[in-house]
Amino acid sequence: VRTLDWSACGIRLIDQNRLPDEELFLMVREVDELVAHIQSLAVRGAMALGVAGALGMALAAVRAKERGEDLDAALDEAATKLSNSRPTAVNLSIGVENVARARREGAGVAELVEVALAMRDADIEANLAIGLRGAELLRGARRILTHCNAGALAGVEHGTALSVVMALQREQPLDVVYVCETRPLLQGVRLTAWELARGGVEHRVIVDAAAAGLMLGGEVDAVVVGADRIAANGDVANKVGSLSHALAAHRAGIPFVVAAPEDTIDAGTASGADIPIEYRSESEVLTFEGREIGPPKSKALNPAFDVTPADLVTAVVTQRRTILPATDQVAPALPHPDTTGVCPSTP
Ligand code: MRU
Repeated sequence: VRTLDWSACGIRLIDQNRLPDEELFLMVREVDELVAHIQSLAVRGAMALGVAGALGMALAAVRAKERGEDLDAALDEAATKLSNSRPTAVNLSIGVENVARARREGAGVAELVEVALAMRDADIEANLAIGLRGAELLRGARRILTHCNAGALAGVEHGTALSVVMALQREQPLDVVYVCETRPLLQGVRLTAWELARGGVEHRVIVDAAAAGLMLGGEVDAVVVGADRIAANGDVANKVGSLSHALAAHRAGIPFVVAAPEDTIDAGTASGADIPIEYRSESEVLTFEGREIGPPKSKALNPAFDVTPADLVTAVVTQRRTILPATDQVAPALPHPDTTGVCPSTP
């Protein structure tokens, strides 16, 4: 699947809210539409958000030129709207900033589009490399547990955690991938299971609460998840529920591996306590298929992400290195909001 792409008419993206029932592609012609699709999770997942941010800026530039509007004003407005549309995945603001920086350095509209397309292509390459590196680390693991969707749909192609799964599967078919359903928006059962079924990977969907019991019962060899932001000290923000899996994996003595591109490491965020966590609507928790499932007076709390402390993370696998956060330096802390720092490679 190519989750999102650039076309002559605008940005083409698969509507993830319609999966697995329907493979419907949307054509996004305006930045405001893209912002709405990001907020509704029609396009979601850290790397897909990064590329969407960059393509959104390119779209703003193209439209400003067509309408004879001021290019810099249009880009400033688009940058604010896109960067604020979801707070946790650092990739989104990096995608926006990459195009904004090119403009500050004098790029014209065609070059801005090129910058966004280069991000799209780099994402594909990085995800393939992450898959191979992760498979090397986990060689021999035949029963993998994953949470949310860190697959092709969370990037342009391939994904991160599922890129590792697919690379292992290519070496030797896996016994099973346990797919946590991922309450409340069900990215696991709707999206990850859809990808694994298409890829012919043996899998079982489980309720999130079943994961710890399976791990402590010796049924899982490794947990592999993606990340929305990794702080300079190695703390990892990912879909809510990831922390519970890390705690269970620690107790069960199995690896908890985070697969993510270098961009997800945010040198400008010192620790997990500084990562902005998105709180989403109460209705996502209190309704199911449009029907209220709780008593009318009950309220809900809906953090969309949680933070796993670095000491519970066995390894972070990027396209360039395998970091062991307990002992390696993940990134030098930079003053916020400079999220562009290049992280040193670990020998
Ligand atoms: O709310 P979502 O669906 O955007 O959350 C996505 C996740 O938490 C993924 O695990 C994360 O983005 C890593 S995948 C690149």
